[in-house]
Amino acid sequence: MNGGEQPAFGVYVHWPFCLSKCPYCDFNSHVRRAAIDEARFARAFAAEIAATAARVPGRAVSTIFFGGGTPSLMQPATIAAVLDALARHWHIAPDVEVTLEANPTSVEATRFRGYRAAGVNRVSLGVQALDDRVLSELGRLHSAREALEAVATARAVFDRYSFDLIYARPRQTPQEWASELTRAIAESGDHLSLYQLTVEPETPFAALHAAGKLKIPNEDTARALYDTTQEVCAAHGLAAYEISNHARLGGECRHNLVYWRGQEYAGIGPGAHGRLDMGGARHATATERNPETWLKRVENDGHGLVADEVLTREEIADEFLLMGLRLAEGIDPSRYAALAGRPLDAARIATLREHGLLETTPAGRLRVSLPGFPVLDAVVADLAA
Ligand SMILES: C[S@@+](CC[C@H](N)C(=O)[O-])C[C@H]1O[C@@H](n2cnc3c(N)ncnc32)[C@H](O)[C@@H]1O
Ligand code: SF4
Repeated sequence: MNGGEQPAFGVYVHWPFCLSKCPYCDFNSHVRRAAIDEARFARAFAAEIAATAARVPGRAVSTIFFGGGTPSLMQPATIAAVLDALARHWHIAPDVEVTLEANPTSVEATRFRGYRAAGVNRVSLGVQALDDRVLSELGRLHSAREALEAVATARAVFDRYSFDLIYARPRQTPQEWASELTRAIAESGDHLSLYQLTVEPETPFAALHAAGKLKIPNEDTARALYDTTQEVCAAHGLAAYEISNHARLGGECRHNLVYWRGQEYAGIGPGAHGRLDMGGARHATATERNPETWLKRVENDGHGLVADEVLTREEIADEFLLMGLRLAEGIDPSRYAALAGRPLDAARIATLREHGLLETTPAGRLRVSLPGFPVLDAVVADLAA
């Protein structure tokens, strides 16, 4: 990848419901006993798309991402209705990437062909682990076998698919992880997301952790697990292109690259964030998180926006740094200088380089080195200070 910046416009669509809440998860996802009125949600999505397109007209949509929650609980007809609404209000690029996040249960896999017919061309499956005991500790509703069957269905139906695994789990050793990851890679396509387990505040895992009942790997073990991840993936042609994302060349998730490269995107649905460029200003938008409140707001006002802030130069530049340094391709320092109105601090760069945490590519891009990635937050904080 050269980081060559094609103009890109992404649309994120959030489906906020799940069959059950996983104890580690702090995403905007909710469990409802009553059936969800999908037709009503589809109308609200279409209304919010119309309102957003009125603010940023004429865009060519290059990527669309249905995230959640569990978008694979949506009927294919609901997905089709959202895609139709997008096509009514914006131009859709002929090579548009349309990703849908799916939970890997057999019920959901039966809908894959319907999603493809609706226009989805890439799925991302939350496999999480290939061990049934671990899956049950993670509160997952599927077995490893069921997940692998869903992966096989994804492979048969879609040209592109990815799946997520969570590592740095309780008691996990680098040897066990290397063998699980190798098995996973054998089932993978052009993309894998590998996340270190994070104990998120106010989740059931946070309570268990505070009570000493959930022991996560210490810093040294977590580092060894991270190193194992990089080694095993690189050996199989799946090097990291972002701190937690691995792909074969050309298999990168183009939608997530929109975020990491500081490009423009719209957020549709409950609790969705956007970055819209209007009249020379960059707006950070957010919608109401609660699904039913969002629905009522859209029905009354035509949109669910609860925040719409014009970002300052400093904020735009800091965000560009924070997101861009997650990528193996790094950032173009001259774009930072243009955004911030001043260059990055040369002395700080020199010190980070001496410590082996930062490197400059032959093309003059600045990127975090492999040893720098485990301490990425500290590197970014130092550079942005
Ligand atoms: C929006 S979620 C999920 C998609 C889908 N609902 C699922 O669970 O299969 C995206 C991914 O984030 C990861 N994730 C969520 N919470 C996490 C946590 N606390 N630590 C590490 N990874 C997490 C999981 O791998 C998950 O698949
Ligand atoms: S991890 Fe996925 S299925 Fe589990 S609660 Fe979060 S969004 Fe829902």
